[in-house]
Amino acid sequence: MLAGHETTAALLGNTLYTALSQREIWAALGAHPELAGTAVDEFIRHDGPAFGLYRRTTRAIALGDVTMPQGATVFIAYFAGNTDPAQFPDPERLDILRHNAASHVTFGHGIHYCIGAPLARLELRVVLEELPQAYPHLRLAADQSFTPVASFLLRAYESLVIVLD
Ligand code: HEM
Repeated sequence: MLAGHETTAALLGNTLYTALSQREIWAALGAHPELAGTAVDEFIRHDGPAFGLYRRTTRAIALGDVTMPQGATVFIAYFAGNTDPAQFPDPERLDILRHNAASHVTFGHGIHYCIGAPLARLELRVVLEELPQAYPHLRLAADQSFTPVASFLLRAYESLVIVLD
């Protein structure tokens, strides 16, 4: 449930928040649905649903000034890599034309790379192709608070109220 559902549900909410907060992006996707293909990875970079995950050290290991003992539980906040300005200039800005957006680390890295990444990308691409065309006036409801879920694993809002008309 966490791997396949909570992640994509949170990604969808985060993406809608960003896209509906910047109407020019919503309008551009509505007018040019072919942009969805490249926009998908930029939203996944910018609005990914997880901060990081745990690992346990199999041996003592030095990282910078810190030596972690064997058997330590380590939280790797790999999402920070998505906002590394050396990789992604002006990283806080959503740029649906960003040429290297797909080199984000939202799906992890190495042998445990997310097995569901193609499905997650497909789900978001369908949303970005269809929703802005079908609902050009979709908007965030006024008078709502955007409360983040109290979690250091999940990047999501408690709720997001969207108006369809
Ligand atoms: C935006 C959505 C998603 C995100 C951000 C995401 C993120 C991740 C990350 C970071 C990992 C690596 C975990 C690690 O290194 O220990 C992972 C692994 C995994 N993901 Fe996803 N995931 C998403 C969607 C999905 C979906 C839709 C499925 C299944 C339908 C899925 C199934 C899995 C599985 C089974 C693994 C374990 C792979 C392994 O250990 O070899 N994920 N995911």
